[in-house]
Amino acid sequence: MNYFKILFYSVWLAGSVAFFLPAQAETFLKFPEGFLWGTATAAYQVEGGIENDWSAAGLDAGKAAEHYEHYEEDFDDLEQMGTQIYRLSLEWARLEPEPGKYDLKALTHYREMLQSLNRRGIQPMVTVFHFTLPPWFVAKGGWTKEENIADFVRFTHWISAELKDEVNWWFTLNEPLVYAFKGYDAGQWPPFVKNRNLALRVIKHLILAHGQAYRAIHAEDPIAWVSFAKNISLLEPNWPANPLDQAMTGFQSYLFNETFWEAISKGELSFSVPGIEPIVIPPNADLKGSLDFIAFNYYTRYLIAADGSQKTRQGVPVTELNWEIYPEGMLKVLRMANQHAQKMKIPIFISENGLADGDDSQRPAYLVRHMAQIWQGIQEGIPVRGYLHWTLMDNYEWADGYAAKFGLMDIERNWRPSAWLFQDMIQQNGFPAQWLEKYKLPER
Ligand code: FCB
Repeated sequence: MNYFKILFYSVWLAGSVAFFLPAQAETFLKFPEGFLWGTATAAYQVEGGIENDWSAAGLDAGKAAEHYEHYEEDFDDLEQMGTQIYRLSLEWARLEPEPGKYDLKALTHYREMLQSLNRRGIQPMVTVFHFTLPPWFVAKGGWTKEENIADFVRFTHWISAELKDEVNWWFTLNEPLVYAFKGYDAGQWPPFVKNRNLALRVIKHLILAHGQAYRAIHAEDPIAWVSFAKNISLLEPNWPANPLDQAMTGFQSYLFNETFWEAISKGELSFSVPGIEPIVIPPNADLKGSLDFIAFNYYTRYLIAADGSQKTRQGVPVTELNWEIYPEGMLKVLRMANQHAQKMKIPIFISENGLADGDDSQRPAYLVRHMAQIWQGIQEGIPVRGYLHWTLMDNYEWADGYAAKFGLMDIERNWRPSAWLFQDMIQQNGFPAQWLEKYKLPER
């Protein structure tokens, strides 16, 4: 036999063997070309020196992470990590300290920040309302009054007109349901109210505000990408076989996770629960279709019991805030979000995901395992366009203060090991499948 024949038969033999073997597992989890990697922050949590409804209520972030002064150094870090997108919020209380009076120095400051990002090739993604408000807006009833929506829409219109050359990605709101329930039902955040009817009214007004703010941004910039960041916790029945737990889970999942997207795709909403004020939004042209992409923040799973209580599963890895670490939930919520995305024919963005982990003992595995779930979703055809890690540096974690450390960097800007890992992932636009062996969550 000559060499040619030997070669021919070996190739043939290898081919036949390969044909009968099960498909090879992927060795490298590659993300699509143009997938956007980034980090997310919010003004009050990082900037420092802000006077708003939180500081007025005694929850003062003080100097925070002094990002307002040190943003250039922070953007150097973003650049070094290789991120292509950065989510930040604008502090309404800084920009409009008195009704109708805009602070042009603050505007210039934000413009310079955004220009600096663009110069570095990092796309800014801007949130208008991320939990904090000017005290004057709160004094007139805040989000509990329908007529106050006009103030927010006017502000959004002005700021998007001013910054349209710098910004292509906008979020009108961040986690509107978390805001409404923490502030008006649980009474844990300003204005510390415990009144479920009011919480539902606030939700209704936030939905309406989103629709109008979406139109205001598009009136200035028709090709901007506009959305809002929706908090999605995976909700599953406490006892999967119990029909009452199942029913309560279905109800809560609809209320907490899907009402906003429903309202936007249909342009109307009618939601009622016995004993609570219903949310009724008649057909509304501003609202209908007011979404250019779906964006959600995913952190954890809760188990729902028939009485409505939400529990953290026992005996599983948890973060320093006792949130369950459940990467598989990322794929489950992606599939749910994708049903809405398909209906509206729009792509998906993960606008936050991360954990409180001061010693970085869990973050590397958290990062790798959540990204693997996202990768899996993309293989299934789910149109995920990007991922933002919460957060760049440790900062003011709302009512939890500075104890909860969510940063890829600490407050001194030391890189935690996971920051280097994130850099490595971004450089490769993915990672070797072996990393799933290497980075495991501790057994509990
Ligand atoms: C989200 C918030 C964000 C941050 C993370 C940990 O709910 O949007 O500001 O606090 O949680």
